[in-house]
Amino acid sequence: MAKIVAGVWTSHVPAIGAALDLGKTQEPYWTRVFGGYEKSKEWIAKVKPDVCIVVFNDHATAFSVDIVPTFALGCAAEFEPADEGWGPRPVPVVKGHPELAAHIAQSIIQDDFDITVVNKMEVDHGLTVPLSLMFGQPKEWPCQIIPLAVNVVLFPPPSGKRCFNLGQAIRKAVESYPDDLRVVIFGTGGMSHQISGPRAGLINSDFDRAFLESLATDPSKATSIRHIEYMREAGAEGIEMVMWLVARGALSDNVEEIHRFYTVPASNTAVGHLILEDRASAPSALAAE
Ligand code: DHB
Ligand code: FE
Repeated sequence: MAKIVAGVWTSHVPAIGAALDLGKTQEPYWTRVFGGYEKSKEWIAKVKPDVCIVVFNDHATAFSVDIVPTFALGCAAEFEPADEGWGPRPVPVVKGHPELAAHIAQSIIQDDFDITVVNKMEVDHGLTVPLSLMFGQPKEWPCQIIPLAVNVVLFPPPSGKRCFNLGQAIRKAVESYPDDLRVVIFGTGGMSHQISGPRAGLINSDFDRAFLESLATDPSKATSIRHIEYMREAGAEGIEMVMWLVARGALSDNVEEIHRFYTVPASNTAVGHLILEDRASAPSALAAE
């Protein structure tokens, strides 16, 4: 049977991708950011997931404002990196897992989550930057990836509660898949940031740190945050944090914190990062195997 053994949460700031792609990682501004992922890269190299489900948001790249699905599950065999205006990032094509993705779609739709099935989609920095942070710059990504795009770009985005519940349905779906697959789920985006308007540049470290603490110790607190509170406390783009709740909902209550990192700033936002292993589905020696 397939199992979700861990969750990884990380910001997806596009400038991080540019720093990697343009060879700027040794600059002091960036060593501060990338230093927070050294342990994470070692950890994931030991965990060796077969599949990563990456909960991310498209930034009007694959989906224009013509069609905005609230939840869109990538069921294709491949996802090309998108051209975001400066050309596609020079990263490998993302290989999907169509069988597991179709199984998840079937299971969660039967569980009343009417997600959109996507058989063709390009993926932007929302997905490729978290992969780069965790896997570095390999010729091929070391595992198959199932993208799950969440609308946080055009009002109204889904509630945190809905996102958390979707994560629970995804866990149930994965656990009913017959093959032995080791699955890691990523929650990406955030943390507090506002790109435009009078409050551009807003970062709220207290809010961000409390959110990370809630994910690690008491997700019900973060799950009850309303849209208006994200907007007020974390800025207009802080709503990206609801995506983190999908990944948290996909883990059990029995988690062990492996790593936490927070730094300000990277571009216009804070960088937050958390790794939790799920003790209900993974032995404590997971990373030491
Ligand atoms: C920035 C952050 C984002 O999440 C994004 O999608 C675009 C820009 C930024 O900090 O510049
Ligand atoms: Fe973003």
